[in-house]
Amino acid sequence: MKENFSEFLFSVPYEMAAVRPLRQTTRLERQAALRAACFNTELIPQELIYVDLKTDSGVSAFSTGQLVKLLGAGSLESGMEMAAEGSGAFRSLGEKFREYFGFPYMLPVAQGRAAERLWAKLHVKPGSVVPGNLLFPSTRYHVESNGGKVLDVIKDGAHDLGSTAPFKGDIDLIKLAAAFKEHEGKVACVYVELCVNSCGGHPVSLGNLKAVKDVAGASHVPLFLDASRILENSFLIKQREAGYRDRSVAEIVRAICALADGCTMSALKDFSAAAGGFIGARDQAAYQKAYVQSFLDGVQPSSAVMAALSVAFDELLAGDAYTASRVEQVEYLWRRLKDTIPVLQPAGGHGVFIDVARFLTHLPAENYPAEALAAFLYETSGLRVTKGPPLAPSQTARGIELLRLAIPARRYLPGHIDDAAEALLHAYAQREEIKGLRRIEKAGRPKYAPALFEQLEQ
Ligand code: F0G
Repeated sequence: MKENFSEFLFSVPYEMAAVRPLRQTTRLERQAALRAACFNTELIPQELIYVDLKTDSGVSAFSTGQLVKLLGAGSLESGMEMAAEGSGAFRSLGEKFREYFGFPYMLPVAQGRAAERLWAKLHVKPGSVVPGNLLFPSTRYHVESNGGKVLDVIKDGAHDLGSTAPFKGDIDLIKLAAAFKEHEGKVACVYVELCVNSCGGHPVSLGNLKAVKDVAGASHVPLFLDASRILENSFLIKQREAGYRDRSVAEIVRAICALADGCTMSALKDFSAAAGGFIGARDQAAYQKAYVQSFLDGVQPSSAVMAALSVAFDELLAGDAYTASRVEQVEYLWRRLKDTIPVLQPAGGHGVFIDVARFLTHLPAENYPAEALAAFLYETSGLRVTKGPPLAPSQTARGIELLRLAIPARRYLPGHIDDAAEALLHAYAQREEIKGLRRIEKAGRPKYAPALFEQLEQ
């Protein structure tokens, strides 16, 4: 029950203005869909899914303000081409970006990985070393494809799935200093991902970021952020780090960015967009080079995408309510599961992560327990979960296997989340019944084609 009616706080800062119907499926239909998809839940058609926790990227609900911009006359305006200054959508997005994030230069791009590709090409060369905190696979890929090497210098707690430390995304300062010493002159940048996906969506503290900035700055090495999940990270700082309770999410966002020399960012996660990404830069020459390359690579966003992003920034950063309701929905699901199911501790910013080895103790790794659990969940409830993007090599070397319940922002009602929780609790109660899978190898299938499985009898 609400306690304070003189200052009545709304639980949810939006209402439904458009909906997409969902069709009830039968268990028989879902069994047939699973067989047709060779037990790979990624391959199940969207229209046969009930609650989809495969990703929170590009699938959040738009606001009416975003929709008007995406579909309005702005979509007929010319784009950035070689002289973005002529585009009204570019100019107003640039003003908002400077206001909210504080970087003097903003380059909008098609999506986050395009930003990483441009930025890594400028800063990483063969032999470069990039210390980071279990960077996202696309960031890692772009560092490596330019001849660089990523060093995981995250604190050991990130690998301890039972640890309840509040900032499991923090960099280990001793490992960072050792990396600078060992690779003197070769450290191209320090790259910090906010709310680190690979280890459970866990945040980085401002105190840690300041210390990282000091170490990097002492060697004149730039600090770059993967700021795709900066809103959630800022809200978790507000909740968990001493001294920030009375600061707004927008203030914490600016405080984080003030420490960085640049950032890459996907707009598909925290900013509820289906397209768009950014480079934020302090160095004009780097910005200009990246700009020309973005034109050549064909990764400039349309005017409509830029106009919709301006609206999203204003709406999402006007107060804390949007980010609070998003993070609190994740925490709600986590609370419903945490006393029964082995989920990573504490709650992350964008999803709940299951420690598969502790969930399915009877299935060895060669029986694909994560995929088997995902298939069981789909068959029994229509819920879709997947492993999400691949983990970092230092995690797979430790035998870590996670299933990610990624929650798209604003998309699901409490009833959906409760149904997802019920399906997971039921699966846990029935876990002994869950059958392992065997990988089907078909001659001539390309290495990167989706994995196909068949179910084991036992
Ligand atoms: N950085 C982070 C932390 C991400 O989670 C992603 C994408 C990217 C960068 C790349 O951005 O998709 O706009 O090109 N994450 C998605 C996910 C794919 O499901 O977590 P993008």
